[in-house]
Amino acid sequence: MSPAEPTIIHITQIGSTNTELMRRLASAEVAVEALPLWLVADVQTAGRGRQGRSWTSEPGNLFASLAINSASPPEVTHQLAMVAGLAVHDTITRLLADTPHKPRLKWPNDVLVNGAKIAGILCEATRLGQNQALVGIIGIGLNLVQHPNDLEKPATSVRALCGQRPLATDVLALLSKALMTRLDEWAEARGFGATRAHWLEVGHTLGEALTVHSNAPNSGVLSSLTGHFAGLDVDGALLLEGADGEVLRITFGDVSAVKPPSA
Ligand code: BTN
Repeated sequence: MSPAEPTIIHITQIGSTNTELMRRLASAEVAVEALPLWLVADVQTAGRGRQGRSWTSEPGNLFASLAINSASPPEVTHQLAMVAGLAVHDTITRLLADTPHKPRLKWPNDVLVNGAKIAGILCEATRLGQNQALVGIIGIGLNLVQHPNDLEKPATSVRALCGQRPLATDVLALLSKALMTRLDEWAEARGFGATRAHWLEVGHTLGEALTVHSNAPNSGVLSSLTGHFAGLDVDGALLLEGADGEVLRITFGDVSAVKPPSA
């Protein structure tokens, strides 16, 4: 079954496309039956990132949120973020096709080029309506022409990498196609297996040294863990091998100190 073509709503300025889309769904301004649907803004005044951070939202970059009527149980909603990461990776690969730059995925769903962040994804889910339908919201910020200058957390943009200034509307068309294809790959009986395999092709390399700022396993306490990437578990959890050889399952957190790929 091929996925339905999403509707696109464009607005010039909003606080956050994720928040606004959630508001429109909750107030039934947007019906669940109308999904999938993109809300895209030229500028965000209160862009939100993961773990309560803000997302710098300057004009010329892409700020878009897709709402989908998810048939998947809430336990696997985090996989949505990895599905979206692959679609953003596909899109950036297209944008940088004529350059030597190759994007990589950083767990769970950042997209980096030469170790610098070019895109971020914020996935949220809610239950709506009498049927309590599960709706997933996939918010994507893609640095097309501008990026924050933060020495601690390096960032980049398409323009910085190759001098091109792609239009956000053109990039949204590419992204939408890639995301619907990746969602289909995930949903259509093949489950997470295909997504996991594709993620591993463009994510961390086995044995790569990682630091994870995360919930300590089974405790929910924030901690920093260092180790080596030992793959993804069947459900998408990060597997981190510590110095003692023990492999930990990480289900939530931020990976840092990722070395740029040597290739
Ligand atoms: C992150 O890496 O921390 C996630 C950043 C996600 C930013 C996008 S921009 C469009 C959508 N609206 C938001 O407020 N956030 C997401």
